Amino acid sequence: MHETILILDFGSQYTQLIARRVREAGVYSEIHPCTIPTEEVEAMNPKGVILSGGPCSVYDAEAPQLDGNLLSLTRDDGSRVPVLGICYGLQAMAHLLGGDVESAERREFGRAEIQFPDADGVSDLFAGVPSGSTVWMSHGDHLTALPEGYEIIANTENAPVAAVRNLEDPHYGVQFHPEVVHTDFGRQILENFAYKICGCEGDWTPASFIEERTAAIRETVGDRHVILGLSGGVDSSVAAALIHRAIGDQLHCIFVNNGLLRKGEWEQVQATFRGHFHMDLHAIDATDRFLEALDGVIDPEEKRVLIGNTFIDVFEAQTDEIADELGHRPDFLAQGTLYPDVIESVSFKGPSATIKTHHNVGGLPEQLNFDLIEPFRELFKDEVREIGRLLDVPGEIVGRHPFPGPGLAIRILGDVTRERLDLLREADAIFINELRENDLYDEVWQAFAVLLPVQSVGVMGDERTYENVVAIRAVTSVDGMTADWAHLPHEFLGHVANRIVNEVPGINRSVYDITSKPPATIEWE
Ligand code: XMP
Repeated sequence: MHETILILDFGSQYTQLIARRVREAGVYSEIHPCTIPTEEVEAMNPKGVILSGGPCSVYDAEAPQLDGNLLSLTRDDGSRVPVLGICYGLQAMAHLLGGDVESAERREFGRAEIQFPDADGVSDLFAGVPSGSTVWMSHGDHLTALPEGYEIIANTENAPVAAVRNLEDPHYGVQFHPEVVHTDFGRQILENFAYKICGCEGDWTPASFIEERTAAIRETVGDRHVILGLSGGVDSSVAAALIHRAIGDQLHCIFVNNGLLRKGEWEQVQATFRGHFHMDLHAIDATDRFLEALDGVIDPEEKRVLIGNTFIDVFEAQTDEIADELGHRPDFLAQGTLYPDVIESVSFKGPSATIKTHHNVGGLPEQLNFDLIEPFRELFKDEVREIGRLLDVPGEIVGRHPFPGPGLAIRILGDVTRERLDLLREADAIFINELRENDLYDEVWQAFAVLLPVQSVGVMGDERTYENVVAIRAVTSVDGMTADWAHLPHEFLGHVANRIVNEVPGINRSVYDITSKPPATIEWE
């Protein structure tokens, strides 16, 4: 088992960032809701615990409180489990221990310069952090009196108590956010906590993960069989590569062409997984079935449901065929579920309202009744990408933008037909190729073309045209929850628009979407 630092989530929007930073420092970290019983924390035997920030004030009726027993937990060697409270995490600690937390007249928000009162005795937490460097504040309440047994180890001009520590136990608190990039030495501070205070050695690397997980998959699967729905996206592709490394031909991949894929994708996925990896790949072209189901459907949610249901039918039929070949049903279903999908459901915050019925976490219903293998349940997307690279998954797949399960169907506004799919594929491919050739592809979170249900007048040569309009869209984002339209160079956009109109017969106008999310969403449907 690797060293673990547990993060208790008090509802901060930055909680996932804390986990990422700790992992980037080479130490495994896991997020749990702040309501987790302390005995469970103890049973996980963490090297340290971090208390996240949160939106509440400690005086709110509903404010989540800290269980005092957490501060007296000990490790196997008898030493106290180190704790770091961040923002609300610090306030919850101080409030519990009899310190004073007051609400500030104004929220303090933004950059501040950190100072260390005792220049000679800078605490371990700030080793290597220069006095005067920037930290990022974002809080309403702050500490005005320390609990007994604590001392101030850092301040800023507006916050006399920017960081504290206990005089005896390895318990620390910071009022600012070390996990955000605006805190110059934030990584260093979290690394100091992990290495100098928790005594971690750093045993979490993508290569060690691959070894460990390969052995675990072999052990779980034994001589049984696994099926996996391959979409050609990052998560399912890397999951396939890892599981194949572990169990070879006992893995059976199913790749369904729903007719809604991008240009060249159907061929590329087969070339990669059958040609390059030599996997047992069942590639099924079900285009006709999907397009029949979608015939005349224009409502986006209806499209999603029909596509989802058709996919399940096709997948099940193929599973039956595999079962016939094997002489029994496969025993496991593998999915590329990621950590953000998992914590979404256990987070302290309530589930957010459904805007679109997506995030299809694998897309297959529980009734299929398989035992699941989800090797990436604890990982973030960039970690999966890194693992994919190590497993020799082609760069084009590993670095690919997210692509929605319903594919091009939700990028064709209105009726989805073969002709319209072909038009959109050509326009989209021009845009994507240009992004790649101009080194802009990796600068954006997602980029694509959308085919609009309107026609516009144009002139080509001496002829009047009355044809289709595409919108091109590119956004920057960290997680797809919010997004900004990408400020791509005008010359570049002009060139792309020009190429699309000149090279795709049937399209005579391109427009660029400059709406952010919110208020728009990333996809048009
Ligand atoms: P929106 O359009 O809601 O998209 O801003 C956020 C992210 O989710 C993707 N998306 C989907 N993914 N099935 C999926 O698997 C869907 O139905 C779906 N709709 C949107 C979208 O591409 C973006 O990355």
